Amino acid sequence: MKKLYGIGTGPGASDLLTIRAANLIKDADIIFVPNNKGRNMALDTARDLIGDKKIVLIDFPMGQVTKEDYRKAAEIIFNGIAENEYGVFLTIGDSMIYSTFIYIMNELDNRKIDIEIVPGIPSFVAAACASKTPLTVKGESFLLCDEYNPKLLDNVDSLAILKTLGEKEDLLHYLEKRDFNYKYVKRVSLEKEEILQDKDTIIKDKDYISLILSRKQEANYEGK
Ligand SMILES: C[S@@+](CC[C@H](N)C(=O)[O-])C[C@H]1O[C@@H](n2cnc3c(N)ncnc32)[C@H](O)[C@@H]1O
Repeated sequence: MKKLYGIGTGPGASDLLTIRAANLIKDADIIFVPNNKGRNMALDTARDLIGDKKIVLIDFPMGQVTKEDYRKAAEIIFNGIAENEYGVFLTIGDSMIYSTFIYIMNELDNRKIDIEIVPGIPSFVAAACASKTPLTVKGESFLLCDEYNPKLLDNVDSLAILKTLGEKEDLLHYLEKRDFNYKYVKRVSLEKEEILQDKDTIIKDKDYISLILSRKQEANYEGK
């Protein structure tokens, strides 16, 4: 039977790949990644393990990606893996978090292909470690979201917001108004990693590879 591994490659640094991920990539028959103008961050992370293996960059349209686009991607993957061989589909962070792999896996559901998923270190976990920001402690609630919505703050003590490219002024203003502090973590584990706390600098920054960690100011993790 054909097999596909969905592999999370972590936040970017190659030494944050898991040993299982590294071993599977090293022995894979074929590598699949979404095409990002001829590049892909997960591919960069795993580059030294890939050697001269066949790499298939899968195109997705800009903007809204449809079910038909995912079906076509699944078709490319299914046809690209030979019988009794295995391929890997690489995603940044973890494959089960805001990832193309989730939709592709769904489209492969009725095909004769075995699927296994290998966890990767999620970006917001790496960002929490780099910035020494506890994500959540006993008795708290933590929220992960892509786009922020003011209502989300009602029942949480801590949150990670992944979509930072839009208008950040309102978001930061709102967090401050609700007594949440924040850190903007950019390119965590990569060469240009930065942790910013100055509001104006954060507002001006336009790096897609960034996220915001935010905690309620009264939240206390000094221990009892
Ligand atoms: C489509 S989501 C993928 C999330 C990924 N599957 C995960 O587990 O982290 C892309 C977002 O991940 C975040 N991200 C990924 N790598 C990052 C890094 N090295 N530093 C900061 N944010 C990162 C950014 O918020 C980016 O917009």
